[in-house]
Amino acid sequence: MTQLAITGGSPVRDKPFPAWPVWDDTELEALSEVVRSGGWSIFRGTKVRALETQFAAYQGAKYGEACVNGTAALEVALRVAGVGAGDEVIVPALTWLTTASSALFVNATPVFIDIEPDTYCIAPEQIEAAISERTKAVIPVHLYGCLADMDRILDIAQRHDLVVIEDCAHAHGSRWRGQGVGSLGDLGCFSFEASKTMTSGEGGMILTNDREMSELCHAYINSGRLRKGDRSSQQVLGRNYRLTEFQAAILLAQLNRLDGQTEQRQKNALYLDKELGKIPGISPLRQDPRVTRQGFYAYVFKYNGEGFQGASRGQFIAALCEEGIPISPVYEPVPLSVLFSGAAYRQLSLPVTEQASYSEAVVLPQAVLLGTQADIDDIIEAIRKIWQHADELEDLELEEYRNVVDRGPDFYTMPAKPLT
Ligand SMILES: Cc1ncc(COP(=O)(O)O)c(C=O)c1O
Repeated sequence: MTQLAITGGSPVRDKPFPAWPVWDDTELEALSEVVRSGGWSIFRGTKVRALETQFAAYQGAKYGEACVNGTAALEVALRVAGVGAGDEVIVPALTWLTTASSALFVNATPVFIDIEPDTYCIAPEQIEAAISERTKAVIPVHLYGCLADMDRILDIAQRHDLVVIEDCAHAHGSRWRGQGVGSLGDLGCFSFEASKTMTSGEGGMILTNDREMSELCHAYINSGRLRKGDRSSQQVLGRNYRLTEFQAAILLAQLNRLDGQTEQRQKNALYLDKELGKIPGISPLRQDPRVTRQGFYAYVFKYNGEGFQGASRGQFIAALCEEGIPISPVYEPVPLSVLFSGAAYRQLSLPVTEQASYSEAVVLPQAVLLGTQADIDDIIEAIRKIWQHADELEDLELEEYRNVVDRGPDFYTMPAKPLT
């Protein structure tokens, strides 16, 4: 008799993990207040400004400038950093593709480098090797749950006069040596897209400690306009990337929940590290003592088929999904995606990124980390069960499971809390 759900056994879990997004009457009341006030945009409302001030303070930065999404935030940050045609921007090969395409939006060239094997964040030692006389900026990405090594990155940037733009789309609430991410480099960019740990469906934010940069960010976001009282007199070709008051009202409510949720995710992630580390073939990522608070956008661990009787990562993912655990592979290497199909990109040597992306790394979405210890125990039990019965996976054809193996279970199909 087979044991694994994928070969006909019963699944470990048949109920959903916590739904995302989390909301309650606070969001409804805040939205209703904006509707009734008639102040729906920044020109007549106060919520966007309140969010900018509160979120910047939360992350330990002096200034916050809200905008439509994380991609726009990166584009604006590059413009403010003076990056343009002919310039190069160093980015990690493993990230969401708009970290790199934002460089293209300002007519600059993304230069891809490899990642560290134990954090999956940009490898600092490769930054120096990638610097040319055209390099203007580097975008470290705090990926999934880990933080890029900001000590080394800031040191390299200072010695080579590079602008550091932190991509913090995955790191709301995270702290490096006690300091909030996004306030460590020259500029820090956040996303409030639906899957992120603080969300209004869409949205973004740029943080900086530099007053002039903050004024320029605002001008690029607000059709070139300066704010009353701004010192800058620079005219810029701004877009309309403004966040609405509705989104800011929701985000203010979400910000109030972030501390408690971050604590819960961190507690469950530590527990997973401890328990999964005992299973042969599974390795958690590195715990860096310099990361004093970790805001997990997802929980990532390494899979090695040698511990699972040679089962491929695809077989493992398919089997785990059938056990009721929503798991997926990580991003594909950006320079090897269709968008960057030129021959030069194909020839890049990115062994760590390729190994993580194609055979090793697996991701649990952040909402599962909001569960109870019993929920997390289900994940551990399911992985142990697959380890015990890995022989059943030997002849498993993956064709039927292409959807989960290539793209992961659709995050948005997780049941949202119904309106009552
Ligand atoms: C690492 C990273 N950077 C940037 C972005 C862009 O954010 P947005 O989707 O809000 O444009 C994302 C979004 O998923 C991301 O994961």
